[in-house]
Amino acid sequence: MKHNSTIEEAVKKLEARYGKRAADYIECIALRKELTYDDYIHTDSLLSLQYPLTDYHDEITFIIYHQQTELWFRLTLHEMRKGIDSLLKSPADVTDAIERVTRANRIMRFCTQSFDILIDGFSTDEFMEFRKAFGSSSGFQSAQFRVIEVLAGLERVDFDGKGDTFYWERAARSIETDEPTLTLLMFKQQHLAWLNRVYDDRNPHSLRLAFDKLLKEKQLSYSDLFTPKAPQLINDLALELAKFDQTIVDWKRSHLRAAAKHLAKAPHGTGETNWAEYLSRSIKEEHYFPEILAAEDVVMADEDVEMPTLGDA
Ligand code: HEM
Repeated sequence: MKHNSTIEEAVKKLEARYGKRAADYIECIALRKELTYDDYIHTDSLLSLQYPLTDYHDEITFIIYHQQTELWFRLTLHEMRKGIDSLLKSPADVTDAIERVTRANRIMRFCTQSFDILIDGFSTDEFMEFRKAFGSSSGFQSAQFRVIEVLAGLERVDFDGKGDTFYWERAARSIETDEPTLTLLMFKQQHLAWLNRVYDDRNPHSLRLAFDKLLKEKQLSYSDLFTPKAPQLINDLALELAKFDQTIVDWKRSHLRAAAKHLAKAPHGTGETNWAEYLSRSIKEEHYFPEILAAEDVVMADEDVEMPTLGDA
């Protein structure tokens, strides 16, 4: 592909797009200030978004780490959405879907590996103090994380005969009263309506359901994967999807490691959950491609997280 146009070629492109107004458009560009790095990246805005609530030195680490994670979540969703679109094309663009899921895996792996910043480069003593300023807010309320789960293929389940709910709705109950926590109620108030719309729209707009559809079109079942019956491209995609599943588990495990390190003296999180049980369970129970994980040895996760004996906050 040729990257540099001649002036004539560029003018022709503008004329094709703007017709008689092409000259006005060129004048408009000529009048503009030269673009700088800061204009493009909006560093000023970005660097004005950190508002520590206390004077503790490490609170800024906590805020920046969460903010960068939300940016990576955003990029993960960007790739997931494109991957799902590619799978839903007719015919499906499996090569592009593999590329998108591979990218999403790379991004999430980066988040997992960088957790050391919050595990080792961060003071538990300071955290135990400044977390008091959070009130009931918790990473539990990360809406983007919840969308990643839904677009991966999370299903609502009827856990107690009271209708289908997300697993995290069941878990976010106060240790003392078993009532839904304020963290959950606030999250539902802010995000549940549109999150339910994302959920209702997921069929087939999730990686899981789009892959199911592809298998059906190819008259394949999960047990045909990695046998001569399944084409190589489908197997490659299946493997990347299983890695994605595992990558989310790995992220959760790194996150749990951070909780285990800094909440050893706190039986509940700022979201009031019995975090040790809740977070460990979510690692074990939530999978999007269990059939592929069982069929293929894709396990990349490291050992289990060493859990503390919980003390008093
Ligand atoms: C020192 C670091 C951290 C600690 C101690 C911590 C603690 C916790 C706790 C205790 C919970 C359970 C809910 C609650 O009771 O509050 C939770 C959930 C959660 N946190 Fe964190 N967190 C940390 C860092 C992060 C970061 C950097 C993110 C990135 C956005 C994050 C996102 C989440 C998410 C998505 C959940 C829900 C997980 C699930 O449903 O499986 N947390 N966290």
